[in-house]
Amino acid sequence: MNKLSIVKEFAQNQLKNDKTGHDFNHILRVVKNAQLILAGESANSELVLVSAYLHDVFDDKLIEDPASKRQEVRQKLTELGYPSNFIDQVFEIIDNMSFSANLAQKKTLSIEGQIVQDADRLDAIGAVGIARAFYYGGHFGETMYDPEILPRQQMNKTAYRQPGTVINHFYEKLLKLKDQMNTITAQTIAKQRQRFMLDFLEKFKSEWGQ
Ligand code: ADP
Ligand code: NI
Repeated sequence: MNKLSIVKEFAQNQLKNDKTGHDFNHILRVVKNAQLILAGESANSELVLVSAYLHDVFDDKLIEDPASKRQEVRQKLTELGYPSNFIDQVFEIIDNMSFSANLAQKKTLSIEGQIVQDADRLDAIGAVGIARAFYYGGHFGETMYDPEILPRQQMNKTAYRQPGTVINHFYEKLLKLKDQMNTITAQTIAKQRQRFMLDFLEKFKSEWGQ
């Protein structure tokens, strides 16, 4: 088995019990998006794919002990023979690509980081994005909708992690992603998915009776 297949298998194993919308199927969709974006860019594809496979493995909102998981990932990549500067770049991408890491100020990402960020963000919007938001909200005890609760503005990471409502998550994050895509490929796909989310929100509110 080549190194990348072992990384893939490692990620699958790590995320197999996830029930928050960050399971291995999310990873496979992100990898597929990344491959599509890579076709239009000049970038180190091994760095993109390793980062895509591992990007949710040590996320602090999903696991108890992110510090020891990071160590485990570093050890795994070292064992596989990836050079330490390659491994540093993987961590740099994963640490700086998330929406929450970019709330205070926008982080500068390498082209590889920009591709993985776009690939991950494409999976947060559109039909699958809608499903994942409700799945995540249910798992963490969020209210589906409350017209009395207004979307929050200008949040830091701690405030962002407090449960809100799932419908507000669209205004607090999901609808903002279209204008934050780095690559032309992702910008094009995001436009269609944005329209779908806006239609959904309109129908949702009209059925709700608003
Ligand atoms: P990042 O890892 O980029 O910081 P998030 O942690 O914001 O991204 O979320 C990843 C995905 O989890 C979102 O795209 C969404 O599907 C879901 N999610 C996160 N926060 C919420 C929330 N408050 N309500 C509903 N879904 C959420
Ligand atoms: Ni992800």
